[in-house]
Amino acid sequence: FVRSFATSAQRANAFNHVTVIGGGLMGSGIAQVAASTGHTVSLVDQDNTILGKSMNGIHKSLERVAKKKFENPAAGEAFVKDTMGRISTATSPITCVSHTDLVIEAIVENLETKKKLFRELEAVAPDNTSSIPITDIAVAAKRKDRFGGLHFFNPVPMMKLLEVIRIPATSDATFDKLLAFGKDMEKVTVSCKDTPGFIVNRLLVPYMLEAVRMVERGDASIQDVDTAMKLGAGYPMGPFELSDYVGLDTMKFILDGWSKNYPDNPLFKPSSLLDKMVAQGKLGRKSGEGFYPYK
Ligand code: CAA
Ligand code: NAD
Repeated sequence: FVRSFATSAQRANAFNHVTVIGGGLMGSGIAQVAASTGHTVSLVDQDNTILGKSMNGIHKSLERVAKKKFENPAAGEAFVKDTMGRISTATSPITCVSHTDLVIEAIVENLETKKKLFRELEAVAPDNTSSIPITDIAVAAKRKDRFGGLHFFNPVPMMKLLEVIRIPATSDATFDKLLAFGKDMEKVTVSCKDTPGFIVNRLLVPYMLEAVRMVERGDASIQDVDTAMKLGAGYPMGPFELSDYVGLDTMKFILDGWSKNYPDNPLFKPSSLLDKMVAQGKLGRKSGEGFYPYK
């Protein structure tokens, strides 16, 4: 949600203060990159234990970025310290959104939970959904002209792409500011219609799910599918490594939403193996086990 428009006289960035709601994989990455590109950031999650983990993760990731970016260790340390200093945390978004220019929602991939959050805020926010049409979330928003979709990719500090989605109600001014924000975040922006999965996930998720079905059918092993796609198609990770990286719960949320809304599309059919693994708490890297162990 675009709350106010900074003028170029104030600073070079399109927005000054950014509130990120959800401090998981994506929210942490978005907060980190927003801060390292000069924005002041409020990071919001449900409790301080989660936020402590988020800040730890951001610190570790910044150290990796600094190692690459600066030859001089002192300059790297200053970069990490300055960036961390621009991020504050909160357990309620209400106080932050009163003085923010942009609100980015990055909570769990569930339409009702996202709508509930927007109703509570009584405002509206650009959204980091992977699969839910932006229009469906905007139903809960009052000022739809200031609403749009920003889809970042995991890991946010490394992935150069940002999908920027407008709904019919999004104003030109808001859309332009969101594109400018993408540039400020040092991302390359692409746009597409508000269709399931936008561009990347519409292609990537069915591919990852077909890999799961291939293993369910007994056609090939997890390891051989991953090796094949890395060495035969040039992907940096195979589909199972990537599923573990994205989070199997997030994959399931995406698929459940799609199969409910588009029951006739065979590409969106649920997977019993994925359902079983999520029920067992095997969520991928974040839980210590998915298709592979990470302990
Ligand atoms: N933060 C900061 N730097 C990082 C990082 C992170 N989280 N992850 C990797 N790096 C950098 C570091 O400089 C690292 O070097 P160090 O280990 O010395 O710190 C360097 O990248 C190389 O990393 P790795 O050796 O761990 O491995 P890699 O060369 O394979 O690169 C990768 C890691 C960039 C994640 C790469 O494997 C990759 O691009 N994987 C595919 C990711 C992908 O497809 N993402 C999209 C997921 S789909 C999505 O996001 C949409 C959705 O809605 C579900
Ligand atoms: P995650 O499970 O790592 O993090 C979600 C965070 O949201 C958790 O820390 C949780 O405590 C918090 N949360 C839940 N309800 C909240 C509320 N009401 N208020 C504040 N915080 C709340 O999930 P993630 O992977 O970061 O995904 C977040 C969103 O980004 C989802 O919509 C997902 O589809 C999308 N996304 C994920 C990826 C990926 O690769 N994982 C990539 C792009 C987009």
